Amino acid sequence: MSGITVAPSSRGRHEAWSAERGREIIAEHLPLEGATMPILHAMQETFGYVPQDAVPLIAEAMNLSRAEVHGTFTFYHDFRHEPAGKHIVKVCVAEACQAAGARVTTDKIAKALDCAYGETRPDGQVTLEPIYCLGLCACGPSAMVNGRLVGLIDDEAIDEIAAEVRS
Ligand code: FES
Repeated sequence: MSGITVAPSSRGRHEAWSAERGREIIAEHLPLEGATMPILHAMQETFGYVPQDAVPLIAEAMNLSRAEVHGTFTFYHDFRHEPAGKHIVKVCVAEACQAAGARVTTDKIAKALDCAYGETRPDGQVTLEPIYCLGLCACGPSAMVNGRLVGLIDDEAIDEIAAEVRS
């Protein structure tokens, strides 16, 4: 791939939701202080989103109301409410990347992937999300493609991202 790449791919590691697996995740994180957020993050890490069915399980384990858990879940925009696409592309829209031309890059990526930001393409092949800084500011425009950081994104890199998403 063009540009620079600095982290391994995480593609294909999401599991299908099951209440049993959800309970295991809750049990693993329950001893942590303020366990709700770590549990929600672990759910998304495991399933690619936070299933609605997880909310009552978390509420019961944390001795919270469902509304309280739901409120936390919906307050943070990073949590997905629906299953993610097969590929997840996050494009940095923060200041340093904007200064490096990210505005044009973000438009080109959306067009190349035929997907709007914050959405999953109807064929389920890709989820495209904006993100606010990936810590790769000196190499903007930057993105994360299936868990792999990519910097200095140019037209060639966009073509390669689009090809990866087609696979
Ligand atoms: S501003 Fe884009 S990686 Fe930091």
